Amino acid sequence: MNPLEAQQNARFAALDPQLPPIAPPPSASEPLVVTAGGRKAGGLLTRVVHAPGSWPALWGPLEMWDLTAVPGDSGPAGLAALLDAWRERMRGTPSGADSGCSLAWPSRDAEASAVLLAHGFAPLTCLAVRSPEPPENAGPARVSVRRAEESDLEALTELRLAEWRYTSLVGTAVARPGARALLRAEVTRSLRFSGLIWLAEDDGVPAGLASCALVSPAPGDSLHGRLHPGRWGYVDTLSVAPEARGGGVGRALMAVAHRELVRPGVRGTFLFYHPANPLSPVFWHRQGYRPLWTMWIRRPAWS
Ligand SMILES: CC(C)(COP(=O)(O)OP(=O)(O)OC[C@H]1O[C@@H](n2cnc3c(N)ncnc32)[C@H](O)[C@@H]1OP(=O)(O)O)[C@@H](O)C(=O)NCCC(=O)NCCS
Repeated sequence: MNPLEAQQNARFAALDPQLPPIAPPPSASEPLVVTAGGRKAGGLLTRVVHAPGSWPALWGPLEMWDLTAVPGDSGPAGLAALLDAWRERMRGTPSGADSGCSLAWPSRDAEASAVLLAHGFAPLTCLAVRSPEPPENAGPARVSVRRAEESDLEALTELRLAEWRYTSLVGTAVARPGARALLRAEVTRSLRFSGLIWLAEDDGVPAGLASCALVSPAPGDSLHGRLHPGRWGYVDTLSVAPEARGGGVGRALMAVAHRELVRPGVRGTFLFYHPANPLSPVFWHRQGYRPLWTMWIRRPAWS
């Protein structure tokens, strides 16, 4: 581990005990190195391009530049110098409207938030965690909740579409042709492989779904360096049908999901939410979640 990484780990550990040691970025990254106040700050820049009909294209810009920032102990001045160097690096780059710059940073680092806001980044997504407590009270809903089956495919696809459409208004999702087919394929994959999908029904009418999984961060995947190693419950999607929202369906689903996910040996549960969503942040905070990482995005990318 180089001195910058060691400094960064010490700073992160002091900021938030739930932050794991930092993970190496993808090997095909371009280095950025700056100094601020006599202290060194580094970063590794990665460019990813998604095909228009692909799954990731539903959830963000087609072209994404991501910076793994390692300002060590150079503080907010080091992060600001890194962002300035990144903007310079992008000068003349022909990025289109369907592009973005992203950087994930610990949510509790308020000084870094000020720097990112000043550079035109928006806090679009939070990775939030919950300790492995028993479920919250199920609330007043009269819906029944059961494990979903392959025969529920169409109802589950409609509910996934409703969540994706809502997220395209208040979060990172982007309207794309072919979305229904991609979401349908994802529901099929989840039914077959994760097996942890619950459907809420009101008198037999589908009212909401919770799609979850049990996962373990591993080197090379997107959770490595975001969560402590071990087994975690992942709440992938919670969606309540538009006409049923605000009636306790979400609480009823999460009471069942948390009971199943919080097994012996599970470190906690996590999920992603969008701070600009007027419904979900308050819901998740009352369910015991709190932000750990914030994914900052500039759309479109600097050019
Ligand atoms: C977010 C969403 C899933 C919540 O489901 P819901 O069925 O509407 O939520 P509920 O009726 O169960 O809960 C809503 C209320 O209960 C509160 N609540 C949730 N858990 C609670 C708890 N344990 N104790 C007390 N109150 C609680 C919520 O804060 C909210 O309060 P309010 O009615 O005073 O505003 C739903 O609104 C939805 O599908 N939204 C669109 C898609 C979306 O945003 N999905 C989440 C993506 S991260």
